[in-house]
Amino acid sequence: MKGENLPIHGDGSNVRSYLYSEDVARAFDVVLHKGVIGHVYNIGTQKERSVLDVAKDICKLFGLDSKDVIEFVQDRPFNDKRYFLDDKKLKRLGWEEKTSWEEGLKRTMDWYTQNPDWWGDVTAALHPHPRASLISLPSDDNCFLHYKMRGEKEGNLDSSSCLKFLIYGKTGWIGGLLGKLCNEDGIEFEYGRARLENRSSIVEDVRRVRPSHVFNAACVTGRPNVDCCETHKVETIRTNVVGTLTLADVCKEQGLIMVNFATGCIFEYDEKHPPGSGVGFKEDEKPNFTGSFYSKTKAMVEEFLREYENVCTLRVRMPISSDLSNPRNFITKITRYDKVVNIPNSMTVLDELLPISIEMAKKNLTGIWNFTNPGVISHNEILEMYRDHMDPEFRWVNFDLEEQAKVIVAPRSNNEMDSSKLKNEFPNLLGIKDSIIKYVFEPNKKN
Ligand SMILES: NC(=O)c1ccc[n+]([C@@H]2O[C@H](COP(=O)([O-])OP(=O)(O)OC[C@H]3O[C@@H](n4cnc5c(N)ncnc54)[C@H](OP(=O)(O)O)[C@@H]3O)[C@@H](O)[C@H]2O)c1
Repeated sequence: MKGENLPIHGDGSNVRSYLYSEDVARAFDVVLHKGVIGHVYNIGTQKERSVLDVAKDICKLFGLDSKDVIEFVQDRPFNDKRYFLDDKKLKRLGWEEKTSWEEGLKRTMDWYTQNPDWWGDVTAALHPHPRASLISLPSDDNCFLHYKMRGEKEGNLDSSSCLKFLIYGKTGWIGGLLGKLCNEDGIEFEYGRARLENRSSIVEDVRRVRPSHVFNAACVTGRPNVDCCETHKVETIRTNVVGTLTLADVCKEQGLIMVNFATGCIFEYDEKHPPGSGVGFKEDEKPNFTGSFYSKTKAMVEEFLREYENVCTLRVRMPISSDLSNPRNFITKITRYDKVVNIPNSMTVLDELLPISIEMAKKNLTGIWNFTNPGVISHNEILEMYRDHMDPEFRWVNFDLEEQAKVIVAPRSNNEMDSSKLKNEFPNLLGIKDSIIKYVFEPNKKN
């Protein structure tokens, strides 16, 4: 129609069985009404045609000499010689092919020539090797194509212009902060539109955004707190297990690293890791806390994600941020409670650690990481800091775990995580107390 050549892969001898679209639609209708649930039906035709014959028939319909128009180009790799489906089972349901090849082709051509506004610009379909064309693009696309998986260090992306993040969790705390950080650092990003359990929508997001990395900060965390997961178990499984695994799997299929915000609330002090001992849980240790349904889903999914070499799991704990007005901030939470327990724990200062998560993506790091500042801090130590920096009149009341159990539904985990792996990779990482002072209390200090 546009006077361009008609490229044909190889010599055009590959055969396919072509069926008119209305016949296919009728086949769906027959299967819908007469098929047996769980059975598989092939929709096909016994008549096979070579690609060259099809091209010649198209030329004939346009009044063109195929010898002038057809251009043989290098074959596609793995171009199948033949596809052929046996449609006998479908025929037994009463379906049959009604439209002849000639008639179907003519109707197809007529529709396309009469409705150009409907199908728009499909010239890309005439590029015989679209991937090869992409590789020669002089733009940022090259950065995308040059991206390599774990271990292939030369693929490290050290320039922000080569990065584009696809982030899930737009309306969430961590997802929102990540987007802000990308804006500040000039890193291109888009938020995912898909619900995590919807595989085809995720694939669509990846196609649209063409990210260098995917960040997952989407999760059912429970509102007002994790107790909500106890009464919404299926929803919690759907996002935290099915959704997270689906996203990891799509990323694997697409050769993408997924940076996954996970939780360290899957561990609980035990005999080998008693409170105050300085012995923290390491990355390769098995979760030992499934007291809450939320933690159970997170522990389960982490076990499966271990098998995905494209996933970087970041175990966040009791996150703290410089925004003391945010009710999700651990410091804000405990300053508002009527009574608090007093137990040392590992925690994550987001202002320091979220930028590190971006550095980890740039380095293409994968595997499991305890994503906490080194050391532990107790509730009382935080509240003392709060009093000293923010409000000299501030007072609080402690209670013990037994009393706490009466005001919560599901038990909470308390633990120390060993963050030496992260510290080795990022030697400037501050200990938890120094980090809280530098990133939270000093910027918020009242004059
Ligand atoms: N905050 C904490 O105390 C804490 C502690 C340790 C670890 N973490 C981990 O850090 C990660 C992020 O936590 P957060 O505190 O930022 O969570 P959050 O504020 O509760 O946000 C969760 C986000 O996930 C989205 N989401 C939920 N179900 C989804 C689904 N099926 N498909 C797509 N999006 C979905 C929500 O969007 P909608 O509103 O549209 O549903 C929301 O944007 C989680 O993995 C969490 O386990 C958090």
